[in-house]
This record gives sequence, structure tokens and C-alpha cells, in this order.
Amino acid sequence: MLISTRSLAEYRAMFDLADDDLKGTILDCAAGGSSFVAELGEAAQAVATDPAYAQTQGELAAVLSADREQCFQMAADHGDEFVWDWYGSPERRDRMRIAATERFLSDRAARPDRYRAASLPDLPFPDDSFDLVLCSHLLFTWDGPLDQDWHAAAIAELIRVSRGEVRLYPLVRRGAGDPVPYLDDLAEAVRAAGHTWQQREVGFRFQRRAGVMAVITK
Ligand SMILES: C[S@@+](CC[C@H](N)C(=O)[O-])C[C@H]1O[C@@H](n2cnc3c(N)ncnc32)[C@H](O)[C@@H]1O
Repeated sequence: MLISTRSLAEYRAMFDLADDDLKGTILDCAAGGSSFVAELGEAAQAVATDPAYAQTQGELAAVLSADREQCFQMAADHGDEFVWDWYGSPERRDRMRIAATERFLSDRAARPDRYRAASLPDLPFPDDSFDLVLCSHLLFTWDGPLDQDWHAAAIAELIRVSRGEVRLYPLVRRGAGDPVPYLDDLAEAVRAAGHTWQQREVGFRFQRRAGVMAVITK
């Protein structure tokens, strides 16, 4: 699985984040190279978690660099499968990746407590810890290696550590963005547990069928 790195601007667009959404406590889960948390800085109460944070700074830097090159090559080879309106061009997207990686590595060195190594479906946070929990490009993206039971357990865990909202993006598989056949079953299970599940269009699209996020309200 790739460890990607995305900026605050990408997170704002993918999750339709308003300034008020960023005022409470936030968890970026499966955060990868979380330039999101780095850019929010001291003004925010944001934490990133990812199993990759068990790696040293040098190991992570090497993995992020190799994964960035792979991402760039994939986007260049299959450019017509993606929508370039938001990024403009493969080169601009790649420059954003480089800047985001640098910001993440430098912030992790300065504020290591903001970056916690952990894996879904077991997070090391008490119940109701965060106002907003975000999870991008893990659930649904990696359908296949991660099956329906894993998704159900992961979503239940994201809800457990939230005291407000959980937002998930995208809701389709990696690559061509094929639908995930058990998405509606997962939404039904969330509703049956007493929460709301809504799907909202967002102002971001890179995979053609990835213009929607899920918002779970606890
Ligand atoms: C494609 S990256 C997405 C990173 C970031 N959210 C973004 O949008 O750029 C997927 C991330 O999920 C992490 N991951 C893999 N298995 C995980 C698990 N069981 N729980 C949490 N994160 C996991 C990987 O280490 C990787 O950083």
C-alpha cells in the first residue's frame, strides 16, 4: 500500500472543511505524510495516526520519496483516467506532494507527539476523544486487501474515538474508482447503531467517480 502525503488544501477540498470545522480536536487517521496536521500547526488541536509512524524519520523519508515517484509515474501513464481540474497538471500535483512531504517530515521532527503509530481497527485513544475524525484514501480505496468485515470494524473504531463527526473520502476503489459493493450495507450498519450516515458532494475530484464523502454523525 502506498503511503501518500496530502496538503491542508487537499484535505479542505476532499472533506469540505470550513474554518469552524478546524477549531476543535481533530484526528487524521491513516494520515500518511500528514501535511494537513503539520500545516494546521500549534493553532489547532490536531493529531495524526498511521502504522507507518513506527518507522524512523529516515525510513519514512525514503518510503515517501519512492511512493511519490510511483504516484507521479502512475498519474503520468494513466493521466486520461483522472480529472485534472483541481491540480492543473501532473507536475503541479507532484510539486504539491514534494512540499507536503517536506512540511510533514519537518513537523514530525519538531512535534513527534502529534504523530502516533497505530492501526485500524485498534486506535490508542479513549472513547469520544475528537470532535472530528478524518480518514482519507484507506477505507474503500483499498477494498480487496481490506474486506467488508475489516471496513465495518474500522468504521466502528473511528466512531468510537469521535464525539462529533467522522468523515470518509473517497467512497470508491483505487484506480478507476469502481464502486464498493458493500458500501450501502456499511451505511445501514452505522444507522442501525444509532448514528447518521450522509453522503455529500465535495469540491474535489481526481478519480472520476470520487466526488462524494460520507459524513457520520455520532
Ligand atoms: C494512500 S495512504 C493515504 C494517506 C493520507 N490519508 C492521504 O490522503 O494522503 C493510506 C495510508 O493508510 C495507512 N494504513 C495502512 N493500513 C492501515 C491501518 N490498518 N490503519 C490505519 N492506517 C493504515 C498507510 O500506512 C498509508 O499511510
